[in-house]
Amino acid sequence: EKGGYDHFMIKEIFEQSKSIGDSMRGRLNAEAGHLQLGGLNQYLDRLVAAERIVIVGCGTSWHAGLVAEYLFEELARINVEVEYASEFRYRNPVIGKNDIVIAISQSGETADTLAAIELAKSKGATIFGVCNVVGSSIARATDAGAYTHAGPEIGVASTKAFTAQVTVLTLIAIATAKRKGTISEETYIQLLNELENIPEKVEQVFENAQKIKEIAFIFTYARNFIYLGRGLNFPVALEGALKLKEISYIHAEGYPAAEMKHGPIALIDEDMPVVFLATKDSSYEKIVSNIQEVKARKGRVIAIVTEGDSLIPPMVDFVIEVPKTHEILTPLVSVIPLQLLSYYIAVMRGRNVDQPRNLAKSVTVE
Ligand code: M6R
Repeated sequence: EKGGYDHFMIKEIFEQSKSIGDSMRGRLNAEAGHLQLGGLNQYLDRLVAAERIVIVGCGTSWHAGLVAEYLFEELARINVEVEYASEFRYRNPVIGKNDIVIAISQSGETADTLAAIELAKSKGATIFGVCNVVGSSIARATDAGAYTHAGPEIGVASTKAFTAQVTVLTLIAIATAKRKGTISEETYIQLLNELENIPEKVEQVFENAQKIKEIAFIFTYARNFIYLGRGLNFPVALEGALKLKEISYIHAEGYPAAEMKHGPIALIDEDMPVVFLATKDSSYEKIVSNIQEVKARKGRVIAIVTEGDSLIPPMVDFVIEVPKTHEILTPLVSVIPLQLLSYYIAVMRGRNVDQPRNLAKSVTVE
């Protein structure tokens, strides 16, 4: 069932060009200017009217929530708060009937996320679910939702579920923005077209697999890693660090690149690999300065750059190119090399990639 691959994780990584398409199937047709999520039809007006959205999740799903924060703010101009389900549920959160909660969960069985939903529900909030497993406890506990349709994810480290979550959240944000009138018709059509091109662009990222393997070989025995990104690539940095920790057991931290100077820069020396998400977007110039700051302290930089970038490659130790897309959709391509990097490092270290120590696929304990 691994389809000829050594591990489920690598199979699932390579499935993403298909699974992202599956998350959009029947929902999106750029040519017709059509975007509709069946499960949300009745609730779209509530999203349009919402003053605030609270997103809850854990782990990778929480990272997808952080991406969604940018999407809803940028496209639909809605204030978003992203909460770890476990923190939210044990506080006394200010939440009520005017709030919309979006719960994100691959398994749909995560105990903390389920408890956060029950708490928000008891206060009268409307709950949307973005789940992968059909009929799961979380899917059943929500008022409405959209399945991610990524297909079964077996590897403990979440990969295709993340890109499916981000895809579906992007669709919801665009649909809300369109109805609300916060994006132009032109941007709307452009985003739909770009979304349809994502599977092909993800496929192009796979062409770098061999190069990423070589980089993994060089850093197999690194003891620490830092991942840096800005804007939409900040959650991607967190996700890259989490993937590496989970399956290779290498200590890794993700940070917003601008936070470097407030502490983590003290860690930089010639033994510190730093992965930069440095795609050509609105924070490109700032990221370039951050790369210079790290290089000045002899850090070893692996940069994820946009195809054709000629400024960054001479500045850094290694580059991995990803195709250009609309800025809003960047995480869907920029996360792929990070998944591959962590996978190859873990394999080279002889780790049990699909079932890392101390972890379970769904965390049904509190
Ligand atoms: O099934 P869920 O999406 O609710 O799971 C949440 C986390 O437990 C999960 O994302 C975990 O962090 C993964 N192992 C990450 O790869």
